[in-house]
Parts: sequence; C-alpha cells; structure tokens
Amino acid sequence: MLGLWNPLAKKWLPYLLNRVTKTYNKYMKDYKRELFSNLNDFKGPSGDLKVLELGCGTGANFQFYPSGCTVTCVDPNPNFRTYLNKSLAENDHVHFQDFLIAPGENMPQVASGSMDVVVCTLVLCSVENVDGILAEIHRVLKPWGKKVFSQSAIVQVPPLKKMRGVCNLHHR
Ligand SMILES: C[S@@+](CC[C@H](N)C(=O)[O-])C[C@H]1O[C@@H](n2cnc3c(N)ncnc32)[C@H](O)[C@@H]1O
Repeated sequence: MLGLWNPLAKKWLPYLLNRVTKTYNKYMKDYKRELFSNLNDFKGPSGDLKVLELGCGTGANFQFYPSGCTVTCVDPNPNFRTYLNKSLAENDHVHFQDFLIAPGENMPQVASGSMDVVVCTLVLCSVENVDGILAEIHRVLKPWGKKVFSQSAIVQVPPLKKMRGVCNLHHR
C-alpha cells in the first residue's frame, strides 16, 4: 500500500500544500513578519545575506524575507519546483540561488559554514532523523548564523486543524 501511496502523495502534496499555504499565511502573517524581522542582523561582513530554506515546499516564506537576500532552497520532493517558481516570480525582492533536491539530513551540495541563516518551518514534524537535520544545519551555518524554526502552528489555525499529520504520510 505504501509503495503505491508514496509516489501519489509526493505528486499531490505540493498541490495541496500550495492551496493550504495561502490560508495559513493569511492567519500567520503577523507572526511570520515578526519571526523574520531581524534576518538582516545576520548579514556577513560582505553585506550579503545568504539564507538556506530547508524543506522549502512552495516557498511560502519568501514574501517575509528582506529585500536583496539570496536564497538556496532544499527539499527532497522535486514536485515543488513549479510552485517554487511561481513564488519566486511573485517575490522578486529575493535573489534565487538554487533548488537542491536533497533531504535536510544530507546536503553535501551546501558548503560548510556558507549560510548566514537557515529557515526550517513546518518540516521537523515530518522527519524521523531530527538530530541528523540539526547536525547539517550547524555544519552549513556560519559561526554567527541564525536558525529560524517554526513548528506545528498549523494546528492552531481552525480551518487547517484537519491537515495535521498529512505531511507525515508523505515521508514514511
Ligand atoms: C508541511 S511542508 C512545509 C513547507 C514549508 N517549509 C512551509 O513552511 O510552507 C514540509 C516540507 O518538508 C519537506 N521535507 C520532508 N522531509 C524532509 C527532509 N528530510 N529534509 C528536508 N525537507 C523535508 C517536504 O517535502 C515539504 O516541502
């Protein structure tokens, strides 16, 4: 059953998430604004702000990022690409670096000590190897880097309560 479910879920989850995200962002707008408000404080000496978005999904956070930052996206599901492109087109204040198809536990494409900020929202609930992801985050962050996590707030949004656990199906 799972052998059949996984490819289907992998294909349909980006579509579903894209629909849910619009409502979620509407409810969480003020919270997200505050969450990402001080990202510029973590710019490196060069004045650039390099952000790694881990488990980027549809790119729901781009609209809250500061102008001029450079974003590298990582997600194991390549089917998010279409929605990611749409998000990037709507948020041209963000410079897109790359979309890497990889799990957060193993991102050899991302150089050690290369990121000012790592963002990881609504991802850790659906992964088994949280320690592996945290180790990779620490590896790729610069010494002054910032980690931004946001988790499980989805269950606070009334119309979305029923979505809890959907992401888990995808990653079994
Ligand atoms: C609920 S979605 C959240 C997407 C986005 N971060 C947001 O806040 O809208 C979970 C995301 O985590 C990704 N994901 C699942 N397992 C992952 C892993 N091991 N490493 C990185 N991302 C993962 C999924 O493909 C999906 O894009």
